[in-house]
Amino acid sequence: MIEPFLFARRTNWPLESNRLTVALEYLRNKEVPILDLTESNPTNCGFSYPGGDILSALAEGDNLEYKPVPRGSLKAREAVSRYYRERGSPVSPERIFLTASTSEAYSYLFRLLANPSDHVLFPHPSYPLFSFLGNLNDVRLETYPLIYDGKWNIDLKSARHLFCDDTRAFVLVNPNNPTGSFVRWGEVEELNVLCRDHNTALVCDEVFADFAFDANQDRVSLVDNDQVLTFVLGGISKTLGLPQMKLSWIIINGPRELVKKASSRLEVIADTYLSVNTPTQNALPLWLSHRKEIQERINERIRQNYSFLKEQAENARDCELLTTEGGWYAVLKIPDTYSEEEWALAFLNKDHVFVHPGYFFDFDNEAFIVVSLLASDDVFQDGIKRILGHISRGEL
Ligand SMILES: Cc1ncc(COP(=O)(O)O)c(C=O)c1O
Repeated sequence: MIEPFLFARRTNWPLESNRLTVALEYLRNKEVPILDLTESNPTNCGFSYPGGDILSALAEGDNLEYKPVPRGSLKAREAVSRYYRERGSPVSPERIFLTASTSEAYSYLFRLLANPSDHVLFPHPSYPLFSFLGNLNDVRLETYPLIYDGKWNIDLKSARHLFCDDTRAFVLVNPNNPTGSFVRWGEVEELNVLCRDHNTALVCDEVFADFAFDANQDRVSLVDNDQVLTFVLGGISKTLGLPQMKLSWIIINGPRELVKKASSRLEVIADTYLSVNTPTQNALPLWLSHRKEIQERINERIRQNYSFLKEQAENARDCELLTTEGGWYAVLKIPDTYSEEEWALAFLNKDHVFVHPGYFFDFDNEAFIVVSLLASDDVFQDGIKRILGHISRGEL
């Protein structure tokens, strides 16, 4: 008898579509127009981009030559360095490693820091891709809670108990997806002590850092954190709203000797893949020179949608908009008379509005829904009015 083909256990994911995806596909096949409040691909949201410059930057003569540099070309790293200087945090190009995406940056770091089955601590609720990234890199993911008391905070008491000898990295998402919460200075101070005591690195995902709703002195970027080995992640999928161009970076900081050792190992990992393509690296300086105008348009959209949602939620029955400080998402607490999935299915089937249920993001309890603030204002306003109207009727 022929034995069944064996795949690696790490790929034993449940691959069946969930009920929401099946319902969405059914409606789309019937060409029912759907108001998609999960859309978070900025290139689908009607923003105008400086298209001429974005495309002409790809037509450089230098692109015909291949001069691989494991950390990424100096020209591109200098452009990233200028970006941080503009933000008030000088970073020398030697501290920058380019990658093709932030997800790839996570993989490099898990490969650098953790042996199979070592621990990495992640926030919850947070971004669903983390469980796959942990899986694919053979690390054990444990989650530490974020708690909400009118604003989101790291539950440091719980986080402290999760640290052990195998904890190789503590991941922060700053601001977090989908809670929109920034890391605060007091939290970093305490995490530095915990990480130093356990030889744990800090990994801080700051891909949404340029999208804050207001100025708040209490927020910090970890780019300047030199107390423990620290890696900050950023990239143009969010910073420039250009996810298709595939370019991200890792900024390394920390005690000098440790940074030196980590950098030389990270360089070997980067050299093994050399995954960032030459045209993108050559185009980066020109693309980043358009950062402010691109971000202005995105910031205007998310602020406008958030304030519309706030006003509507204040006047709606049985619905609370959780405080969001930044990022591209908003979270609504809705009545737990039905499950999140039942609500989301009802919004889809009856109102033709697609939202994400909170359990996609590992919320502790029900019922929450998550909406993207990137949708064009007419789609967003119509979609929000339909679901709030539905909730106020109290029935599925
Ligand atoms: C918090 C966070 N980090 C990273 C990513 C992935 O970024 P990239 O497109 O650079 O891989 C996302 C994508 O939505 C995200 O939400």
